[in-house]
Amino acid sequence: MKNKSNKISAEYSKAIKENKNIVSATGGAKFADYSTYDLVSLPEGVAESSFGCGNPLAFSSVKKSETVLDLGCGAGLDLLLAAEKVGPEGKVIGVDMNEDMLKKAKKNIDATTYKNIELRKGMIENLPVESSSIDWVISNCVINLSTEKEKAFNEIARVLKPNGQMLVSDIVSENMPWWVKRSGILTAACAGGTISEKSYLQGLMNAGMIDCNVISRQYYEPKQMASIVVDLLPSFLTNISCCGKSIIENLLIKMASPIAKNLWSAKFYGRLTFK
Ligand SMILES: C[S@@+](CC[C@H](N)C(=O)[O-])C[C@H]1O[C@@H](n2cnc3c(N)ncnc32)[C@H](O)[C@@H]1O
Repeated sequence: MKNKSNKISAEYSKAIKENKNIVSATGGAKFADYSTYDLVSLPEGVAESSFGCGNPLAFSSVKKSETVLDLGCGAGLDLLLAAEKVGPEGKVIGVDMNEDMLKKAKKNIDATTYKNIELRKGMIENLPVESSSIDWVISNCVINLSTEKEKAFNEIARVLKPNGQMLVSDIVSENMPWWVKRSGILTAACAGGTISEKSYLQGLMNAGMIDCNVISRQYYEPKQMASIVVDLLPSFLTNISCCGKSIIENLLIKMASPIAKNLWSAKFYGRLTFK
């Protein structure tokens, strides 16, 4: 399990260093839930270092003075937006397993005036966060990458205050082909490790969350799915063309169709009952 997480982490190190978006599903649609105001207020380069699949905060009701925890915060786009929402009296904590992501997040935070964001290195299955200390858990395209999702769901319930809430944007799927599940690259790209909405909701409820439901969904085009694999192939392969079209690219778009139909981004809400 640790080995699998290390491989995923290595892919994200490569992606953040090379400024390459490995998350296939997000494609051009990843900013659909962000307002123009949100995006223009960010320091230069922050949006480009996002690997999300939605905007969890847009579906939350995070208020001033609250404490927000972002699971798998990556380079920190959602941390900055959360810091604005909670204000100087509130606090934002970002946890990520990847040192390179955290370095980039620190750089992005340092380019702002926010003093209420704290970064912590750690696993979402064993959070370096005190029990019953968080008002809102948010996360953007991360839990699908977990090799121990049950532990991650239990950790959400552990760190939330009584009546604390959760808003998670993540990729889910139905009937993923076996070759997608087996592929390391497609797992790091948020497809191979996905579970169904039903399993996700059940996992949250088993952990003790209540009012669990999906409040929004976003679907993708086969072309967006295929683009990731195209990016990863050596250029001599993608350059093989017929009638002005890349043969490999067209083939991949055909192969991506069954994935695109069965995979989407969902926003999950949940609340912790009083303990
Ligand atoms: C798809 S990226 C999303 C990053 C960020 N949430 C965003 O929207 O840009 C996934 C992130 O989760 C982190 N991650 C994946 N699995 C993790 C785990 N089990 N524990 C902690 N971090 C994890 C990766 O290092 C990476 O930064």
